[in-house]
Amino acid sequence: MSYSRNLPETSSAANCESDGRLNAPSAVRNVEPIVELVRKTAIKSGNALEIASGTGQHIVKLASAMPFLNWQPSDVDETRLKSIRCWSNDQNLTNLKPPCLLDATKEGWSKKHHPQDFILLVNLLHLISIKETKILVKEISKALTANGLSIIYGPFMRNGKLISMRDMEFHHSLINTDPCLGYKNDIDMFNLFDEAGLIHLSTEEMPANNFSFVLKKP
Ligand SMILES: C[S@@+](CC[C@H](N)C(=O)[O-])C[C@H]1O[C@@H](n2cnc3c(N)ncnc32)[C@H](O)[C@@H]1O
Repeated sequence: MSYSRNLPETSSAANCESDGRLNAPSAVRNVEPIVELVRKTAIKSGNALEIASGTGQHIVKLASAMPFLNWQPSDVDETRLKSIRCWSNDQNLTNLKPPCLLDATKEGWSKKHHPQDFILLVNLLHLISIKETKILVKEISKALTANGLSIIYGPFMRNGKLISMRDMEFHHSLINTDPCLGYKNDIDMFNLFDEAGLIHLSTEEMPANNFSFVLKKP
């Protein structure tokens, strides 16, 4: 499936190499803090799904750092799936599955992907609408097993406010492209977690003013 949505170029900048591998500077910059946070959540075994894996640069590091989890990469876009395959092929990791096509904003995907012990989502919510975010959070909750954990990482408004000039510019570039897109408010996210039956365990400060929400399915 080729995926196209009108987005500003800054939303997912990646260089393409001759074999189809994508290289995103932002994925290189934030991979270590993300791996550290996932390791800290102390899941010791089971299935881990990454939604919107993008280039695949995160999942190869995660699977290598946490061999006790079986990692499933996914994305909605065929170009990204190809890139994930390239990064994965280099590593030969037995706990890393081939990437699968997953549109995380479509109702019902959890039926195919349940049960997951851990679900990671990095840098997607500002690129979709609040209605799609609601579906996505509900589906994460349905896909998780009891006591399963999830981390949702990205840029968010804090109590309705954008906290830096860079965040203001990025948010406005998104809503100027499509008014349904843009940073979600952390307060609205807490309500969505609650509605979906997820417990919000903590909010972690991440590089470049990003947040990670750590969530648990009771
Ligand atoms: C900004 S990139 C983030 C990629 C990666 N998580 C990272 O942080 O490097 C957004 C990714 O979300 C994917 N995506 C967009 N809409 C999606 C959807 N509805 N379901 C799943 N993935 C989606 C895009 O194809 C792209 O790979």
